[in-house]
Amino acid sequence: MEKQLAVNRNNWNERTPVHAASAFYDVASFKKGRITLNHIERREVGDVSRKTLLHLQCHFGMDTISWSRLGAKATGVDFSDAAIDLARVLNNEVGANARFIRSNVYDLPEVLNEEFDVVFTSIGVLSWLPDLDKWASVIHCFLRTGGAFHILDKHPLMGMLRESETGDIRPASNYFSHERFFEGNSPTYTDGQPIASPTYEWQHSLGDIVTALAKAGLTIQYLHEFSVSAYRVFPCMTKHHDGWWRFPKHNHSFPQLFSIKAVK
Ligand SMILES: C[S@@+](CC[C@H](N)C(=O)[O-])C[C@H]1O[C@@H](n2cnc3c(N)ncnc32)[C@H](O)[C@@H]1O
Repeated sequence: MEKQLAVNRNNWNERTPVHAASAFYDVASFKKGRITLNHIERREVGDVSRKTLLHLQCHFGMDTISWSRLGAKATGVDFSDAAIDLARVLNNEVGANARFIRSNVYDLPEVLNEEFDVVFTSIGVLSWLPDLDKWASVIHCFLRTGGAFHILDKHPLMGMLRESETGDIRPASNYFSHERFFEGNSPTYTDGQPIASPTYEWQHSLGDIVTALAKAGLTIQYLHEFSVSAYRVFPCMTKHHDGWWRFPKHNHSFPQLFSIKAVK
């Protein structure tokens, strides 16, 4: 898995400046004080004031700093050098007190020895991780007893659907867990330019995600499913006034996001 993760790290280093310049991420309004967390994340994680919070796969840190603005003692982790460098610059620029660590999720126990009240990860995370059992054991390792893990991510059903030329959404690939290789030169989920470098990505079924957390020793408190998306997964989707993307038809037929709360 080292080869695949090195390829992906290179891709995220290339993506970071493109994302930072995008309207999607809108860094300018964040600098003026915008909280970048969405209402599902804020409602489900709840009051974080004075809590210690570990944010896995934090990208360039706007969500981590937002948790810090909401009162958490927040630590963000990401394996991209460019993302962590930018997160630290933004943290200083806005006068926040979040901490950032550059590390692969899987190697984090080798560089950090602390327990947290909350471990959080969201939107666009699991498709970058080849090994869910190891991921869940890292979460278990960093939670204090009684602490809570929260994830909000793209629903795996979305990973097997494709949009036809007529705008219909159809099942087109394997739902169950498997690896995929993308050659590159493709646009990301933002409005920025295409990224030249390739990626490896992983589809994980909902059953495998829940089972990995349970096997690691965490107690699942809920598994929620939502019929909205945080970004435009398919061209036919439109953005609504509430900021969520939806299908023009079938809107209530597909879960597009899922969230889990699991406690140690
Ligand atoms: C889609 S972003 C997370 C996005 C976050 N919700 C946001 O919008 O800022 C995915 C992040 O995962 C990071 N990542 C991917 N694989 C990783 C790994 N194995 N260890 C640590 N970070 C990883 C990437 O560098 C990237 O910053």
